[in-house]
Amino acid sequence: MEEQGQTAGLDGAEGAGINYVPIGVIRSPYPGPKGMPIQPSGAGGVAGTVEIQPEYQDGLQDLEGFSHIILIYCLHLSEGYSLKVKPFLDDVERGVFATRAPRRPNPIGLSVVRLVRVVGCSLEIEGVDVVDGTPLLDVKPFVPQFDAPQVERIGWLAGKVEGVNRAAADGRFQGHQQG
Ligand SMILES: C[S@@+](CC[C@H](N)C(=O)[O-])C[C@H]1O[C@@H](n2cnc3c(N)ncnc32)[C@H](O)[C@@H]1O
Repeated sequence: MEEQGQTAGLDGAEGAGINYVPIGVIRSPYPGPKGMPIQPSGAGGVAGTVEIQPEYQDGLQDLEGFSHIILIYCLHLSEGYSLKVKPFLDDVERGVFATRAPRRPNPIGLSVVRLVRVVGCSLEIEGVDVVDGTPLLDVKPFVPQFDAPQVERIGWLAGKVEGVNRAAADGRFQGHQQG
């Protein structure tokens, strides 16, 4: 079922003029969404590059001190969305916000990747799970004390995450058809 975005009633957000401009692009060995890893944990050692636009280079100062970084990007090849999806690693419909499915109302993705080195405006990374050419919105340092709390439960993914290393994306989120 296709859903259309509705912003009515979002007092503070209405008229906020959200209009992000990519700060760079993520380069990876993957030309398209099918057949690639579904999370960085399934892409161990897969090398990629983040090319930052030169006007943002000063913002990269001090980043090399971090072994891991958070990439926030636009899943630009996603079309439309459904509020119920059969996510990778499952055959049961789940609410989209309880999944990492790429077809979402705001197709924003995030990946925690290893930062190998910074060379000028290029970040050499490992563990890349996005298509070549994915527009980058932001970079942040990954800090376990901030970002890795001790969790008590992982919902429907309990007992399934072990499969992430073997899983490759099938075509279920390509086009408008919900698989
Ligand atoms: C399940 S999503 C997870 C992305 C991110 N790690 C997250 O949790 O937000 C990863 C899948 O999205 C698809 N994908 C990757 N890059 C994409 C892009 N630029 N546009 C649309 N789909 C993409 C691929 O099928 C990939 O296996």
